[in-house]
Amino acid sequence: MEELQCCVVSCEKPLDKVYWDNQYQSNTTGWDLGEVSPPIKSYIDTLEDKAIQILIPGCGNTYEAEYILEQGFTNVTVIDIAPTLIENLKTKFKNNSNINIVLGDFFEHQGEYDLIIEQTFFCALPPTMRQKYVWKMHQLLANKGKISGLLFNRTFESGPPFGGSQEEYNLLFQQAFNFLKMEVCQNSATPRAGSELFIELQKNSEVLVNLYPFEGITCNGCKNTVSEKFSALESILNVSMSSNFAEVLIVSKVEVALETLQKEIAYDEKYKIKQKL
Ligand SMILES: C[S@@+](CC[C@H](N)C(=O)[O-])C[C@H]1O[C@@H](n2cnc3c(N)ncnc32)[C@H](O)[C@@H]1O
Repeated sequence: MEELQCCVVSCEKPLDKVYWDNQYQSNTTGWDLGEVSPPIKSYIDTLEDKAIQILIPGCGNTYEAEYILEQGFTNVTVIDIAPTLIENLKTKFKNNSNINIVLGDFFEHQGEYDLIIEQTFFCALPPTMRQKYVWKMHQLLANKGKISGLLFNRTFESGPPFGGSQEEYNLLFQQAFNFLKMEVCQNSATPRAGSELFIELQKNSEVLVNLYPFEGITCNGCKNTVSEKFSALESILNVSMSSNFAEVLIVSKVEVALETLQKEIAYDEKYKIKQKL
């Protein structure tokens, strides 16, 4: 039996509000570029409609929002879990009614956006949360809405940041999003040159994207078998299970009853799929 895959860093050191707030309080913000990320700046320059609803999750010091506002955009929301940071941002953007600054957990956030900017947020999350990220992004985007920004195209010894590859992102986002762009970025900030992918992923509004808690799997072999069972159902377009086997992301053409899913895995009584989130 293969060993249980676990995100060691996140188990030993939960990547929660306290962890992130400490980074801002102690000024250990090595990820902070000190300026708008060049590829995102170039991308913003291509956008014409200044009234679109934009979200920047895990915004940090958000030079991106600053640049976006300078260009005349009128509907920007930034969200971050770290209270110290959010206090600073409220001072920085005081009296600017074009920005909504939210203290909170991205996964609890409600809203509808045309564009969500990805800038070192995905890589800051424990890899076990990647399926939840896809589910939440799909939920927050309006019809034809997009995630645009950067993902690392490399691995790291330990995280955060947690890396990844184009192959992994393809498997994760496929069917839930249409890939308008996913290519090696040519104008990354110097320290990240050659190690980022620029992505532009458009919400596929023709499908349902659901996330289900799952119990009973302890190895990659069983994960693959269960994924194959679900994938064999006619209306299911993609199945992606989290690396700790605790959640399964299912993209389908129509709603699939929980009983139907449970029946597919009834060959092992340990396996339980729960009500979707
Ligand atoms: C690596 S930093 C990147 C910050 C910023 N995007 C940048 O590039 O400078 C990750 C950010 O995500 C925030 N964060 C982590 N988990 C979060 C969550 N669940 N909801 C909202 N923000 C979160 C952290 O507080 C931190 O500011």
